[in-house]
Amino acid sequence: MGFDPDWEKTYASGTHLSVWPWSDIVSLVNRHCKPLITRGGGRVLELGCGAGANIPFFRALGMDYSAIEGSSTIVRQLHERYPDLADKIHIGDFTQEQPFQSDFDIVIDRASLTHNTTSSIRGALQMAFDSLQEGGIFIGTDWFSKNHTDFKGGEQSEDEFTRKNHTKGQFVGVGNVHFSDEPHLRNLFSKFEIIFMEEKLFRRHEPKDKHQFASWNIVARKPNA
Ligand SMILES: C[S@@+](CC[C@H](N)C(=O)[O-])C[C@H]1O[C@@H](n2cnc3c(N)ncnc32)[C@H](O)[C@@H]1O
Repeated sequence: MGFDPDWEKTYASGTHLSVWPWSDIVSLVNRHCKPLITRGGGRVLELGCGAGANIPFFRALGMDYSAIEGSSTIVRQLHERYPDLADKIHIGDFTQEQPFQSDFDIVIDRASLTHNTTSSIRGALQMAFDSLQEGGIFIGTDWFSKNHTDFKGGEQSEDEFTRKNHTKGQFVGVGNVHFSDEPHLRNLFSKFEIIFMEEKLFRRHEPKDKHQFASWNIVARKPNA
């Protein structure tokens, strides 16, 4: 299974409505996509755009933006907010289909692939690879890490990296959550050239609950044939 219907319920109940651009996306695009920014263009595909937090950023850069998002509720709201993107924001499962022309310069994913099982993530990454031009860049942020406290929460889903049914913490009600370590990421991205990979660790000191947030950011390039 790819898209988890729990997301539809989440948006229908009016939660998870992040609308400010995510700072890691802004800085990684600025750092790794300079030639496109200088040129003032390029085609970008977002996998799982949610409430559209990253849309104003790419539009401000003059980029041609497309997205695939599984929740029809949130996509309807985006079509109302951005009528000119009605053909560009597609309701679908990004592990199954990519309805656009495949010559993207950038594919971005902020915390979307990581809400799928390992086999679905492999499918989505293959789709992302096929969607990019040679030399194109994949930017993934907030891929949860096995060092995240909640890797021990919930129960195992389809494979050893994926958990579900969390009863506390940030993952309640969002279905599958995939947690990576470095060898696993290198294996998932074996077709790409990894040009940047970092793990973020935030240890909470107050309240004193020993919580640790941990996630990966990764930038990978589709090699020339
Ligand atoms: C944590 S939210 C992130 C939303 C957005 N990227 C952001 O940064 O604000 C994850 C999003 O991915 C979408 N999603 C997860 N798996 C999907 C799939 N297989 N196909 C399409 N959308 C999916 C969910 O519906 C949700 O909107």
